[in-house]
Amino acid sequence: MQFDYHNPTQLVFGAGSLARLGELARRYGTRALLVTGGGSVKRSGTFERAFQGLVDAGLSVFECEGIEPNPRISSVRRGAAMAREHGCDLIVALGGGSVMDAAKAIAAAVPYDGDPWDMIVHGQPEPHVPTEALPLITVPTLAATGSEMNCAAVISNAETQEKSFVQAPCLYPRVALLDPELTLSVPRDQTAYGVCDLITHVTESYFNGIGDTPIQDRFAEGVILTAMEYGPKAIADGADLNARAQVQWAATLALNGWVNSGTGVRGYPVHMIEHTVSAYHDITHAAGLAVINPVWMRFAAQTNTAKFVQFAERIFGLQASGPYDMACALAGIDRFEAFLKSIGCPTRFSELGIDGSLIETYAKETLRIIHDDQGLLPGRPAMREADIVDILR
Ligand code: NZQ
Ligand code: ZN
Repeated sequence: MQFDYHNPTQLVFGAGSLARLGELARRYGTRALLVTGGGSVKRSGTFERAFQGLVDAGLSVFECEGIEPNPRISSVRRGAAMAREHGCDLIVALGGGSVMDAAKAIAAAVPYDGDPWDMIVHGQPEPHVPTEALPLITVPTLAATGSEMNCAAVISNAETQEKSFVQAPCLYPRVALLDPELTLSVPRDQTAYGVCDLITHVTESYFNGIGDTPIQDRFAEGVILTAMEYGPKAIADGADLNARAQVQWAATLALNGWVNSGTGVRGYPVHMIEHTVSAYHDITHAAGLAVINPVWMRFAAQTNTAKFVQFAERIFGLQASGPYDMACALAGIDRFEAFLKSIGCPTRFSELGIDGSLIETYAKETLRIIHDDQGLLPGRPAMREADIVDILR
C-alpha cells in the first residue's frame, strides 16, 4: 500500500456556521461571484443570509444564478464571463453539487484563455488540466456529492450529449463551510438520492481497490452504516437536524479522498456509466447510480467474491459459510438493493422513463470517454463493451 494524501480544504462544520461566511471569505478576496442554482436558496432564505454576510464583511458581491442540475458547460462559460467582467477575485458556491461543480469550473476558466470544455475529460487525447483557479469557498445546501471538499467537477455538454469530469489540485476549495441547517429544506427524493450517491462513492473505492486495506475498509463501512442509519431518519423527518448533520458529514467524508486513500482504487465504473446515461437523459445522478450499482455489484462479485462477502457480513450481519460464499455475497447485494428501494430510489431504468434502445451507445460512449491502455473501462474487474451492455440490459 502506498499513497500520498493532501487535502488543503479547511472544513468548517456545524449548525449555524453560515454566519462565518463573511469572515472566511474576507481572507481570500474582495469581489465575490456568488454562484447559485435554480432558486432553492432564495426560497429558503439562505441566499439572503449569505449575500448579506459577504456584504457586511466588506465584499462586493455579484450573483451568477441559474446553474442547472447536471451543470452545463454553457453555464460555466457564462459564469466565467461574469467573473471577468466584474473583476471577481473569489468564487463562492451556494448550492448542491451542481452549483459547486460549476463554480469550480468557473474558478479555473477565469484565468484560462481557451474554452473551458477543453478541461473536461471527454475522449480527447490530452485534456487541458488546469493549474490555476480563483480561490473558491463551497457552501453546500445538499448532502450528496462530496464536491465541497474535493478537487473534481462534473460538467455536461448538452450540444454533444457528453458528461464528464475535470480533476486538478487547484480545484480544491479553500474552505468548505458545512452548515447542516441549510440542508433542512432538501426534499425527500433529493435526500434519498444524496444517501445513495454518498454510499456509492464509498462502494466504488471499497470494491475497485487493490484489497488488503483493512483501515480503509472500516472507514468505508462506517460511512455506509452511518448513512444507512441516519439517511432514513432524514428522509422520514426532514427537520431532524442531527440526522441531517450525520448524513452531511458522511457525504463529505465519502469523497474527500480520506476513505479511499491507499485503496489504489482502479476506477469508478458505476459513476462513469451513469454519467453517460445522464448525458443522454438528464436524469438525477444518484437515481442512475441506484439502478446501475447493484447490477454492477452482481457482476463484480463474480471476480471479487471475498470482498462482497465481507460487505454482506459487516453491513448486513449475514453469516457466510466461508470467504468465497457466493450465495452470501449475492444476498448482501440483494439487501443493499432493497435498502435503496426502501428509501425511494429507483432500481430499474424503466422507472426513469429510459428504455433499452440506446444501451450499446451508452457502452461505446462510456469507453470512448474513458478507457485504460487496453481499451477497457477501469475498475475491478476492468470492463469490456459487452460487459457494460450486459449490466445495462
Ligand atoms: O437548483 P436549485 O434550485 O438549488 O435546486 C436543487 C436541485 O433542483 C435542489 N436543492 C439543492 N439544495 C437544496 C435544494 N432544494 C431544496 N433545499 C435545498 N437546500 O436539489 C436539486 C439537485 O441539486 P444538485 O446540485 O443537482 O444535486 P447534487 O448535489 O446531487 O449534485 C449532482 C451533480 O454533482 C455531480 C453529479 O454528476 C451531478 O451533476 N457529481 C459531482 C461529484 C464531485 N464533484 O465530486 C461527484 C459525484 O459523484 C457526482 O458525479
Ligand atoms: Zn456520485
